[in-house]
Amino acid sequence: MEEKKDYILETLENDLKQITTEQQLIELKSKYLGKKGLVTELTSNMRELTEEQRREVGAVAGEVRSIVTEKINALSCQIQEKILNEKLEKEKIDISLPSKKVRRGSRHPFHRIIEDVEDFFVSMGYDVVRGPELETDENCFQRLNVPLGHPARDAQDTFYIDEEYLLRTQTSSVQARTMQENQEKTPIRMICPGKVYRRDDDATHSHQFGQVEGLVIDKDISLADLKGTLELFAKKMLGENTRVRFRPSFFPFTEPSVEVDVSCFKCGGTGCPLCKKTGWIEVLGAGMVHPNVLRMGGYDPEVWTGFAFGTGLDRFAMFRYAIPDIRYLYTNDVRFLEQFDRKDEENEVK
Ligand code: PHE
Repeated sequence: MEEKKDYILETLENDLKQITTEQQLIELKSKYLGKKGLVTELTSNMRELTEEQRREVGAVAGEVRSIVTEKINALSCQIQEKILNEKLEKEKIDISLPSKKVRRGSRHPFHRIIEDVEDFFVSMGYDVVRGPELETDENCFQRLNVPLGHPARDAQDTFYIDEEYLLRTQTSSVQARTMQENQEKTPIRMICPGKVYRRDDDATHSHQFGQVEGLVIDKDISLADLKGTLELFAKKMLGENTRVRFRPSFFPFTEPSVEVDVSCFKCGGTGCPLCKKTGWIEVLGAGMVHPNVLRMGGYDPEVWTGFAFGTGLDRFAMFRYAIPDIRYLYTNDVRFLEQFDRKDEENEVK
């Protein structure tokens, strides 16, 4: 028995020296401690032994088993540690290496302007509403007092989809929608920022551009309300010293209609290249909602009055950030867009 014990422990010592991987260790374990392992075999013929022999064999086998187990476990710890160290070595991070530059995103000039416009009007109790860019002829023209065949349609080169549908040429279509949707015919105070489409394409016109529409309907609304609102709006967007001027104009859906100029925010009104030496810059179309438009929207023009205005977002963005070509606003060149955090800081004098 003692011979067997010595033999097992000797072979184990030799085997242990060969082991380097976890897989080999598993195999080694089964060679000694498995069902048919060397240590297990020590007790395979117990039934044939006498009581005394059994006790002796049992004791030796137990002793061998615990020595073998201990040695294998010790080796297992060593191998685990080795694997861990190798892994740590491989995955070491060299913190002295220069880092990759993380590029920070930047908000598009349009969103900067839209946020300011929304802040202003929401603070005055307006709702911000949206409408679809794919619109019906009815909402974009007919309900705005531009019947089929009306010459005013020529002024807005329209992308038609078919007889009924088109890409909206103006956010004024949302005026028509808002009046229809307001079933209770209660007062309306809304603005609608959004994209519109026309068949133009040059340095100052894009086939797609941004507008903000405004509509107020209530009792006793007058042109003075429109003027006061737009004056405050211009000051908020372009600076406290901004003055506003109304010129008579024509839109089919407003009567009277006005074109709204603001004093040039570059020269303050003395004349410069930006305002073409006039001291004024045109920024808005507006007027009192035409009685026909009110009627088609379900509002009795004898009871209700209102004003509406529409402004191009692109012009505001181009002026505010001195952007020379409108198409820059739509090409999403990161080098172009990245500048605006800095430009806003410079403009922060507002
Ligand atoms: N929809 C007009 C345009 O696109 C602007 C406008 C809106 C004028 C509302 C009057 C009232 O030119």
